[in-house]
Amino acid sequence: MRKDRDGQPAFDTEVINAIRQEEAGTIQGAKLIQAGELVAFPTETVYGLGADGLNGEAVAKIFAAKGRPADNPLILHIAKKSDVRRLWSRIPKQASILMDTFWPGPLTLVAPKSDLIPDEVTAGLDTVAVRLPQNKTARALIAKAGVPIAAPSANRSGRPSPTTAQHVLDDLGGRIPLILDGGSCHYGVESTVLSLVSEPTILRPGAITREMLSALIGEVRVSASILSPMKEDEIAASPGMKYQHYAPLAEVVVVLGAPQQAAKRINALYRAAEAEERSVEIAATEQTKQFYRGMRHIVLGDRNAPETLCANLFSALREMDSRAELILAEGIAAEDEGLAYMNRLLRAAGFVVIDASKE
Ligand code: TXA
Ligand code: MG
Repeated sequence: MRKDRDGQPAFDTEVINAIRQEEAGTIQGAKLIQAGELVAFPTETVYGLGADGLNGEAVAKIFAAKGRPADNPLILHIAKKSDVRRLWSRIPKQASILMDTFWPGPLTLVAPKSDLIPDEVTAGLDTVAVRLPQNKTARALIAKAGVPIAAPSANRSGRPSPTTAQHVLDDLGGRIPLILDGGSCHYGVESTVLSLVSEPTILRPGAITREMLSALIGEVRVSASILSPMKEDEIAASPGMKYQHYAPLAEVVVVLGAPQQAAKRINALYRAAEAEERSVEIAATEQTKQFYRGMRHIVLGDRNAPETLCANLFSALREMDSRAELILAEGIAAEDEGLAYMNRLLRAAGFVVIDASKE
């Protein structure tokens, strides 16, 4: 096997169209997983980079391929609900109703781990995160592999999560043997991560919202780190949140305010950047695109339907990042699915925010 410059095994990455060839693709993928190799696969949230979750050596390859810090734990993906029994040492009391309602789907549950789980998966924590994805190809792959599949998002560490097979190829081409191409991901942001270790707490917001969870299990807390940079004492509970995720090379500025106010401020910032000969892009919405005529912009979706903004955010960040030094993005209310959107956007911006409603 060839090695590339930083000592990673070099592969001629194969891409299989898993919509046309799901059976052949998942058979080949499952063989690689069983042999301790990595396979990138589609899920309904973002693409995952999978390895046999019970094989510590295979899991270590994920960290090497992504350049991921070793203290950031991984999610185990299962193909049927009953698989969770051997992964957790006890089933938290709220878990059953959540699994029955939201699995398969974009909800990850954290509970005390069983002895089966290698330390590489949990980064030494005594808990493990588990999710049953909805995506057909993902489930066929896990079922055929016959093991839980440990998988983070299939991006190089620090890049926006991949929502197409091309994004995975851009980041990990040559570093992994196989990508299963299932087209664009439905949700476009990663799963909601809910800890059930003590009081139910959302560690990362996603398409399954706090409102949807608390309708079933009562009070659900939201980790303070979701909309602000982490403090030292919060890091232990949710190691993933401390890293500046989704960080484009371009400077990203979030502009808050009602549509017209935000657009007015973005216009001024755009003109000022142009005067300095900086290349600029705007992450716009249906409500504001009329204010950006003649300016470079991408319409992410509808401000009143934050799931549409979520679906396009990461791909738009990648696209704008390839063209611009400055990205101006509209912020929205951090409620319902808007919480997931603002969580990702604020991290991409390194928490640089201008509030146009205060002008
Ligand atoms: O939608 C998703 O969740 C995607 C797809 C591929 O399933 N996966 C994903 O994985 O986003 P990753 O590794 O990029 O994010 C996992 C998050 C991190 O923030 C990590 O810190 C947290 O889950 N996590 C994992 N295990 C944990 C644990 N035992 N306790 C607390 N947080 C945990
Ligand atoms: Mg990730």
